Amino acid sequence: MKGFHVAIVGATGLVGQEFIKVLEQRIFPIRSIRLLASDRSAGKKLFVNQEEVEVKETSAPSFDGVDIALFSAGAEVSKYFSPIAARAGAVVIDNSAAFRMDPGVPLVVPEINAEDIKEHEGIIANPNCSTIQMVMVLYPLHKVNPIKRIIVDTYQSASGTGSAAMEELSEQARLVLEGRSVVPHVYPHQIAFNVFPEIDLFLDNSYTKEEWKCVEETRKIMHAEDLAISATCVRVPVLICHSEAIHVEFSEPMSPETARRILASTPGVKVLDDPQISLYPQPWSAAGTDDVFVGRIRRDVSHDCGLAMWVVADNLRKGAALNAVQIAETMIERGWI
Ligand SMILES: NC(=O)c1ccc[n+]([C@@H]2O[C@H](COP(=O)([O-])OP(=O)(O)OC[C@H]3O[C@@H](n4cnc5c(N)ncnc54)[C@H](OP(=O)(O)O)[C@@H]3O)[C@@H](O)[C@H]2O)c1
Repeated sequence: MKGFHVAIVGATGLVGQEFIKVLEQRIFPIRSIRLLASDRSAGKKLFVNQEEVEVKETSAPSFDGVDIALFSAGAEVSKYFSPIAARAGAVVIDNSAAFRMDPGVPLVVPEINAEDIKEHEGIIANPNCSTIQMVMVLYPLHKVNPIKRIIVDTYQSASGTGSAAMEELSEQARLVLEGRSVVPHVYPHQIAFNVFPEIDLFLDNSYTKEEWKCVEETRKIMHAEDLAISATCVRVPVLICHSEAIHVEFSEPMSPETARRILASTPGVKVLDDPQISLYPQPWSAAGTDDVFVGRIRRDVSHDCGLAMWVVADNLRKGAALNAVQIAETMIERGWI
């Protein structure tokens, strides 16, 4: 019988639910599937390929006989259970930040650094959502004209924080429109009709952890240790999809036409760029799709070698579940599993 024994840890969460959809849509070769979560969800029933599957509490024996374990249950769960799953013989593909900067753990966007997968010792890390969509667009340009500096400002949706944050945004929007007061629970501030430049914890260098992930993870994925990067990550009242305003300094001048031509032939990237008809990527239309969308590509008038652009992608799909499943598919296609 063909196929793989697959486990999803965090199956009841936003990314976990997307894992199920992506596996179904891409007809992933599943021989058996285990849906795992916390004790709160044990006994809950979910459907995979029209078959009912009971959610089980995650425990050490959950990984016996599993070939591929897809983790999306937060860093603490990953730190504890990923090594257990790897020791049991599974290849772990982890969506959390737990192992991303570990030198022994490949951090992979298959379109960019699939070869790094071969270095894994049981755990492969899926990058941060805002990093994935940025490198998908910048790496093909970097290959023809090395990038020296990146300045990125992100506009990140509530789904990036998980299901509780999405509910908080919807509920707050309703309360505000009814003229009632709002008490934030998930975020430090009201998210409805507001934006704030705080995603994850503040570090000693005054950047947030999310901003620092953009810096470190981009360098690791692109194998560009000296790349200068600065990020400001902002939470916005959007349900799904992260947007990014990116300013890039190349080694040599690059015309917007050249960048458009390169990106138009890049798998997984779609150019939407016609300002005359107000055509550019937007979260509303990108939600639920697989591509990384780029538009507003223009000369950065502040630098001879500069380009500016606007990038949007679904953080739950290419930013999380889809990229992780593509890592597994790459391993299967290349005979690495
Ligand atoms: N959302 C994104 O755009 C995104 C992108 C990239 C990476 N990620 C990462 O993916 C992970 C999950 O994100 P999410 O958005 O799916 O969050 P979420 O909607 O809040 O879901 C969290 C999931 O983790 C499970 N969980 C919590 N505590 C657990 C425990 N002790 N043992 C086992 N399972 C446990 C939950 O199960 P219960 O239902 O039982 O509580 C639920 O299935 C996080 O590490 C996040 O950083 C998210």
